[in-house]
Amino acid sequence: MSGYNTVVQALVDEGKFVWPGFLNPQQVAALRADMDALQADFRPAGIGREQGYQRDISIRGDEVLWLDNDAPLAVPVLDQLEELRQAFNASLYLGLVEFEAHFAVYPAGGFYQRHLDQHRNADTRVVTFVLYLNEDWQDSDGGQLRIYLDSQDHGRTQDVTPHGGTLVLFLSDRFEHEVLPATRERRSLTGWFRRRPV
Ligand code: OGA
Ligand code: MN
Repeated sequence: MSGYNTVVQALVDEGKFVWPGFLNPQQVAALRADMDALQADFRPAGIGREQGYQRDISIRGDEVLWLDNDAPLAVPVLDQLEELRQAFNASLYLGLVEFEAHFAVYPAGGFYQRHLDQHRNADTRVVTFVLYLNEDWQDSDGGQLRIYLDSQDHGRTQDVTPHGGTLVLFLSDRFEHEVLPATRERRSLTGWFRRRPV
């Protein structure tokens, strides 16, 4: 199971894991440069899928660019995430057959209201990951990921500051979450490990 024991165990015990330093600052800078080069291809994010798809900036304000496995990124981050998918699969028998990922950019003031990541009509998303790609982020810049914990936790929340290189993973059907507005542009690589549709 290699070096992923801690994160696999955390997913079993807590349903989530925060991993500061998953990428180092040089890797973050390289991925930011990739994003800059692809800037023209970003599109406003929507909510829902197929007929239910719509854009609503009062719900989410980010622009996204979906990646495929051949994406020529400066850092083999998709390979690392693929290894992680395999580690989860081998240990947890989650039947995770694939993953999808997109870059996301929230302009200053942008946010994403409280939501669950599973689509109502196609709940194949099992694990959500978010990898932050910001430089010199301060708590006072805002933009926290606010995770709503289980009812056992009496409605408490956990805030994650989007420091560059931090990876967050959580079970997609378990935790509602939101993105708080930030005072500056906020970047990430976000995706989902999925199981096969039934
Ligand atoms: C999402 C999302 C969280 C974040 O894209 O579904 O909730 O911290 N992102 O960017
Ligand atoms: Mn989400």
